[in-house]
Amino acid sequence: MYYHASGTGGIEELQPRVSNHGVPLVYLSEKRENVLVYLSNAVEKYCRETGFTVDGPLEKWGPYGFDRDGILRLEEYYPGATEKTYKGVFGYIYGAEEVQSPGFDTGIPGTVTSEEPVKVTSCEYVPDALEELLSAEREGKIRIKRYEAMSEKDRQWIRETMLREYVGAAEHPEYRHFLEGMFPWVTGEKGESGVTLKDTMGARHSVRAYTDEKVPEEIRITLSDAVSEANREGDLHISIRWDDPEGFDSRLAHYGNFRNVSNYIVLAGKKSGDFDLRCGYYGEKLVLLAQSLGLNTCWAALTFNKRKVKELLAPGESLCMVIALGYGASQGHPHRGKSFENVCDVKDAPAWFREGVEAALLAPTAVNQQKFYFSLEGEKAVLRTKGIGTCLQTDLGIVKYHFEAASGHEAEVR
Ligand SMILES: Cc1cc2nc3c(=O)[nH]c(=O)nc-3n(C[C@H](O)[C@H](O)[C@H](O)COP(=O)(O)O)c2cc1C
Repeated sequence: MYYHASGTGGIEELQPRVSNHGVPLVYLSEKRENVLVYLSNAVEKYCRETGFTVDGPLEKWGPYGFDRDGILRLEEYYPGATEKTYKGVFGYIYGAEEVQSPGFDTGIPGTVTSEEPVKVTSCEYVPDALEELLSAEREGKIRIKRYEAMSEKDRQWIRETMLREYVGAAEHPEYRHFLEGMFPWVTGEKGESGVTLKDTMGARHSVRAYTDEKVPEEIRITLSDAVSEANREGDLHISIRWDDPEGFDSRLAHYGNFRNVSNYIVLAGKKSGDFDLRCGYYGEKLVLLAQSLGLNTCWAALTFNKRKVKELLAPGESLCMVIALGYGASQGHPHRGKSFENVCDVKDAPAWFREGVEAALLAPTAVNQQKFYFSLEGEKAVLRTKGIGTCLQTDLGIVKYHFEAASGHEAEVR
C-alpha cells in the first residue's frame, strides 16, 4: 500500500503537482506515518490565520528528515512549532494499491513518485493532525525533536538558515510573512542573539586580505546550491573557484591590495540584455549569503588576473567580474557614504521604501561611487543611475538586490 495525505476530501485520483523538483509528480509513501507531516503546511496555515493572501505556489517548508534507522524526525525550529502547525487541522490519508509508472527517485526513504495520476483505493479521515502525529510518536513510528531540546549549535544553525531563507525569499512574500512571524529578528527587530538581514548588510565591508583557513565542505555546498539557483533564475553561468590562488595572482591584484585570495566567484554568462545588472543582482545575493555564513568578500572589476580567469570561461561566454571570497584577515571597515536625502527626494516615504533605500546605502559600489537614485511613482519604487561612472549597471544590480531584499518590494530599473 502507498499513502498520500491531503487536506482535500473526496479525491478519487491523485493528480501530479509541481513540487520543488520542477516536474509534476504525485508523491506517495510506503509508510502511513511518513505522510502525516503533510496534513498541514505551516506557511499556508500561518498566512490563513493572519489574513495574508497567498497567490502563486507556496515555498516549500519541510522541517523534517530521516534518522539513520529510516524513521522520520520532525524538527521544531521555533517553540511550539508542531502544535502551531497541526493542532485542529483535519485531513485525509489516501491509500493506493498500485503505482503504475513510478517516476523520479527523490532520495527520500520509502517515497514513491508517479508522473501519471494515481487511483485511490482507500480514504481515511483524520480529525486532528496533531493527535495523529503525537500517537505515531508514542508508538515510536516517528520522532519529534522539540525546540527546547535543540542544542546551542542547532539554534545557531536555525538562525543562520532562517536568515538565509529570508534573504533568498524576495520573490515569495508569503514565505517572508511566515518567517517574520516565527523569527521576528530576521527583519531587523533583534531578538535574543538573532542576526538580522540589516546586520548582515551592515557587517559586510570589502575585505582584500585573507587568512589560510579553508572553507569547510558544508559551506561550499550551501554556496554551490545558491549558485545553481542564481544561474537558473538569472540565466547566468556563475561559478566558484575554490583553492585556486591564480585568479588574484597578478601585479594588478597586488597593487590593488589583494592578499592571499584563494577562492573567488566568477560572474559570467552569455552577454545579452541586462547582463551586467543581473551579475550585480545575483552576485550580491551570494555576497550576503557568504557574509551570513561567516565569510568575507570583495567585488573586483579591475584588480585581479583577468587573463587567467578568462581561460575558465565556456566558449561564447563573457566575464562580468569576480568576487574574492574567504576568511578575512579582518572584517574590513565601514566607509563614509551618502545619506537618504542624497539618493532620493521622496518626502514622507512609506516605511518599506525607507527600509529599502537605507539597505541600498549599505551596498558596495565601484570605488564607493553610489551613483544611484530612487524615486517613488505611485506605489512603485524606481531606480536609476545618476551621473557618469564605472561599472554603473553592475552597481545598479547590487543596489536593486539590497533594496528588494530589505523592503520586500520590487525596484524597477529605468
Ligand atoms: C562593481 C564593483 C567593482 C569593484 N571593483 C573593485 C576592484 O577592482 N578592486 C578593488 O579593490 N575593489 C573593488 N570594488 C570594491 C569597492 O571599492 C568597495 O565596495 C567600495 O569602496 C565600498 O566599500 P565597502 O564594500 O567596504 O562598503 C568594487 C566594488 C563593486 C561594487
